[in-house]
Amino acid sequence: MDRPQIIPLNEIPKASREIAQKLKGGEILALVGPLGSGKTTFTKTLGKILKIRQKITSPTFALMHNFSGQLKSGKKIQIYHLDLYRMKNFKEAKALGIEEFWGKPDTLTIIEWADKIKKNLPKKVKLINFFLR
Ligand SMILES: Nc1ncnc2c1ncn2[C@@H]1O[C@H](COP(=O)(O)OP(=O)(O)OP(=O)(O)O)[C@@H](O)[C@H]1O
Ligand SMILES: [Mg+2]
Repeated sequence: MDRPQIIPLNEIPKASREIAQKLKGGEILALVGPLGSGKTTFTKTLGKILKIRQKITSPTFALMHNFSGQLKSGKKIQIYHLDLYRMKNFKEAKALGIEEFWGKPDTLTIIEWADKIKKNLPKKVKLINFFLR
């Protein structure tokens, strides 16, 4: 895992644009930070850039939402947006099928509260920290 990127709330639009530019498909973004620190806001902003048509809401209860999107290059991808806040162990994430899609070249996986499954995250995960002022 590389060093985490830290994004304050007011820098979400700029940071999302920069991250979107670099996406090639297959990335796993681990969003970590306290309640209300901007994880969902970041996902919504990134989702707009990636041309997701549906309204992005927090997957707090559904645990996972799936969208179709498009990278800057034009490549079509599946976006999986997870919120593990209520999750107790990796078994529950596995039940969502996470191991079947994460890291695949035509996907982007965005995991809020990824620290809940810290031990099970693949090495290539990109860690993004959020914080409250
Ligand atoms: N540019 C901004 N300036 C100030 N506040 C903002 C800005 N953008 C979003 N917010 C607010 O910041 C908060 C961030 O909430 P958000 O749902 O993104 O956090 P979260 O990290 O996903 O929380 P949770 O852990 O509950 O999922 C919201 O109250 C939102 O309205
Ligand atoms: Mg959230």
